[in-house]
Amino acid sequence: MRFLATVIKGLEGVCEQEIINRFPDAQIEEVLVKRIIFSFEGDILALKSLKVADDIDILIDYTIGEPLKYAQIFKVIKTISQIRDINGTFSFTISQRESKYNLADLQADLVSEITQKGKLKYNGDSHTDLDFRLFVERESLSLSVRIFKMPLSHRAYKTNALPGSLKPSVAAAMVFLLTKGESKPQKIIDLYCGSGTILAESLEFGFDIFGSDIDFQAVEITKSNLNNFKDKNLDKKLDDKIRVYDSVHTKWNVGQFDTWISNFPWDKQVKVAYVTELYKKTMEEVVRISKSQNQICCLVHKPEIFMKLAKKYFPNHQFKVIEIGYLGQNPSLIYSV
Ligand SMILES: C[S@@+](CC[C@H](N)C(=O)[O-])C[C@H]1O[C@@H](n2cnc3c(N)ncnc32)[C@H](O)[C@@H]1O
Repeated sequence: MRFLATVIKGLEGVCEQEIINRFPDAQIEEVLVKRIIFSFEGDILALKSLKVADDIDILIDYTIGEPLKYAQIFKVIKTISQIRDINGTFSFTISQRESKYNLADLQADLVSEITQKGKLKYNGDSHTDLDFRLFVERESLSLSVRIFKMPLSHRAYKTNALPGSLKPSVAAAMVFLLTKGESKPQKIIDLYCGSGTILAESLEFGFDIFGSDIDFQAVEITKSNLNNFKDKNLDKKLDDKIRVYDSVHTKWNVGQFDTWISNFPWDKQVKVAYVTELYKKTMEEVVRISKSQNQICCLVHKPEIFMKLAKKYFPNHQFKVIEIGYLGQNPSLIYSV
């Protein structure tokens, strides 16, 4: 079968690598902006383990002006109904960039064909349970249907979140960039833990996690989210591991950590002078609390300032930069290699 993984702009390469690592038999066919097309013959349920993809769909052969193949629609619906309940209705979602087509006409034709060939009722909505999706980018079109009930980027552990909390798939990409998907039983610190997304994603890779935030409420929310990992037996240890500290002056021990992953506070209005000072003082603190050979991955809005300081404070590290498209902004992921 052929699949379509959707991903945050800029993270296509990371997502591709994750697919290859987890499913060596998968064949990557095309890497497009925000989308990866691949074929895979293994257990569809296993695709749920992908962490960097925002979602995963089954791709349907579709050429504009040609009818959909009855057998294929039937097979897709049967496959999905074998892994979860579907209630006989479907929604239809269009995502487009610079389309030259009349999308209303295309949608009407496709909805009518899916209704007929899939024996389903259109619910008049988008983004609901059984969602057929048309991606249009200039002349290129792809039709697909979401496999799982919830988007892949949804995480059961995230029962509470503050505004500004990171999308789990971005946090997973940050962890993946440092681990390449391998389990790392090392100590990781997030000095701006917010709701704990980076720590939760790190936990899944076997890290021994530590986090702090200046905001008491953030620390409490992080602990409640991490407590959702019942199998990790973290509850008694969390008061020691997640603390209220100003990032520039913590009480973490000297040379305690192997890895630093954080996304810095950001807002369009934050003054550059303040950002510079925050990056600088945080790095001074990271130098104090980390091993000299530590690994680093940060999401920042001023990559040039971060890089300039990082070269000074971590002179033996090599860094790479990936600009991503996130919430209408273009922050950068800076990571050590
Ligand atoms: C962008 S949010 C982090 C979101 C987090 N990665 C998540 O997924 O929920 C930035 C966090 O930095 C915290 N913060 C701001 N200034 C700080 C400081 N000087 N020291 C520690 N934390 C700080 C804020 O309270 C906020 O929770």
